[in-house]
Amino acid sequence: MSGAPPSRAEALTRLTADLRAAGIDTAALDARLLLAAAARLSTIDLYTWPDVPLDAASHARLAAMAARRLAREPVARILGQREFWGLPFHLSPATLVPRPETEHVVEAAIAEHARIVAGRDKSAQTGAPFTIADLGTGSGCIAVAAAHELADARAIAVDLAPDAAIAARGNAVRNGVGDRVSVIVGSWASALADRCADLVLSNPPYIETLDLEGLDTDVKDYDPRLALDGGADGLHAYRQIFADARRILRPDGAVVVEFGRGQAAAIADIARANGLLPRPAILDLAGTERVIVATLL
Ligand SMILES: C[S@@+](CC[C@H](N)C(=O)[O-])C[C@H]1O[C@@H](n2cnc3c(N)ncnc32)[C@H](O)[C@@H]1O
Repeated sequence: MSGAPPSRAEALTRLTADLRAAGIDTAALDARLLLAAAARLSTIDLYTWPDVPLDAASHARLAAMAARRLAREPVARILGQREFWGLPFHLSPATLVPRPETEHVVEAAIAEHARIVAGRDKSAQTGAPFTIADLGTGSGCIAVAAAHELADARAIAVDLAPDAAIAARGNAVRNGVGDRVSVIVGSWASALADRCADLVLSNPPYIETLDLEGLDTDVKDYDPRLALDGGADGLHAYRQIFADARRILRPDGAVVVEFGRGQAAAIADIARANGLLPRPAILDLAGTERVIVATLL
C-alpha cells in the first residue's frame, strides 16, 4: 500500500482481493472487519460513506493488520477481541478464540437451568444460588454468557492458565456480570467443594496430541497448546471432569460438555463409567455431534 491513501471502498476492494489471492476463504468478511477496526468505524459507516479517503493513520494501521492476516494470524487475534453470544470478549495469548459452536453449550445450559429450577419444590429450597462451574474457562465466554443470560445464577470459572483467568475476570466485569462470576486458577474441579454446583459446563481441550501438528496455521500457531491438547486419545480432560462430576454436582444437576468430531460415543461411555446418564448428542449447525448433556442417575 503506497501513494495517496485510497477511499474506504478502494481499500476494502484491494484488501479483499489480496486476502483472496492468499487463499483466505473469509476474505471479504475479514477485510471488512479489519478496515472497520483500522479506521475506527462501524461497518455501517464504511458502507454509508464509501468514498471518504482513509486518513494516513488509518491507512498505516490497515497495512499493518493486512500483513498480519496475510501471515495467517486470525482476525480475532489481530483485533484482540471476539464476539460470543452477542457479547465482546477480549483475548490474550493464553485464551482460545471462542468458537460459534460453543454457543450450543450455553443453549443447553439454559435449558438445563429451566429443567432444574422447575423441578425444585420452592419450599424445599436451601437459598443457595443456582451455581454453574465452567471448567477450562479460557476467555470466560461460557461462564459469562451463561451468567449474562441467567440472572439468578452465579458462576465459578476455573482455568489452569493464570493469564486466561485474568482475561476471564476482565471479560466478566466488562460484560456486567463481575459480581456473579468468580474466577479461580486450578485444575478442573480439584479446588471445588462437594455439592457446590447445579451445572458443570466445559469445552475442554480435545485434540489428540499427535494431530496438533496437522492443524491449520490459524489454530496451531495462535491458539494456546494448553487449550488444544487433549492427550494421546483426546479424552484426557473428560476423564478428569466426569470423575469429579458426581462429587461437585447437586443431585438434580447436569454436566454439559463440548467435544470434537467422532468423540460422542467415547464421551457417553466416560459419563456412564462415572455414574451419569448421557443424553443423545446435540448437533451443531453443520450437523456434527458437538455437545452432550449428562445427568446424575
Ligand atoms: C478448548 S479451551 C476452551 C476455552 C473456553 N471455555 C472456550 O470455550 O472458548 C480449554 C481451556 O481449558 C484450559 N485447561 C487446560 N487444562 C486445564 C486444567 N487441567 N484445568 C483447568 N483448565 C484447563 C485451557 O487453559 C483452556 O483455557
